[in-house]
Amino acid sequence: MGYQQNFRVWRGDATGGDFAEYDVEVNEGEVVLDVVHRMQSTVAPDLAVRWNCKAGKCGSCSAEINGKPRLMCMTRMSTLPQGSTVTITPMRTFPVIRDLVTDVSFNYQKAREVRAFVPPADLAPGEYRMQQVDVERSQEFRKCIECYLCQNTCHVVRDHEENKPNFSGPRFLMRITELDMHPLDAAEKQEGIKRPLAAQDEHGLGYCNITKCCTEVCPEHIKITDNALIPLKERVVDLKFDPLFIRRRKKQRTH
Ligand code: SF4
Ligand code: F3S
Ligand code: FES
Repeated sequence: MGYQQNFRVWRGDATGGDFAEYDVEVNEGEVVLDVVHRMQSTVAPDLAVRWNCKAGKCGSCSAEINGKPRLMCMTRMSTLPQGSTVTITPMRTFPVIRDLVTDVSFNYQKAREVRAFVPPADLAPGEYRMQQVDVERSQEFRKCIECYLCQNTCHVVRDHEENKPNFSGPRFLMRITELDMHPLDAAEKQEGIKRPLAAQDEHGLGYCNITKCCTEVCPEHIKITDNALIPLKERVVDLKFDPLFIRRRKKQRTH
């Protein structure tokens, strides 16, 4: 059965804005995006919102609902407290274009800065072969829908605009891990690029102090921290410090 719910929605643009309050009908089975569309068709026809698939797959409808970074199309109204006000705000880390729509071009810039997969020069297309185990290792990372909720949540950039030039964020550090795990990527062999060192020296891996907030908000449930960022950090340690020396020191301590 339908009910009336009070919403506070941030309205404004790059020059500033404020909250607007709307009372809107909610029906059984609806998600937040349904209600935002009802606002547009009833009380706020000029409300700006970005969406495409309404199925949790395009990554367009990212916002903050009661302060929590979420996809609007995947947040059921039944999971929010009925009778108390629901607050919807745009993602905080990126500049607002209008209302709930933010400018996420920071992410496209960071994507461009990661050296793409380097095809092996000694193999022709069609000759590439990979072990299934290598395919599976990075399969999880390929589920990313580029919603940028992880980028929005990470404290390194969320309240620190000044860190943005030096930190690519969890989504793109994860991309580097994926490339590092790729057995056919010839970046090191052909161009001398050691992926983990590039992550550390050029993409700000050292800023990440494994708080796992990125993992918590990922709608694809990718274990960004445990399966991408921590292994990448371990590879940096391997490369920057002689592992044989470390092992010898450990051995000496135990005797
Ligand atoms: Fe979104 Fe998860 Fe991809 Fe980050 S890793 S952009 S949270 S799907
Ligand atoms: Fe940020 Fe995720 Fe690291 S939230 S600090 S990138 S574990
Ligand atoms: Fe595509 Fe929400 S509209 S993920």
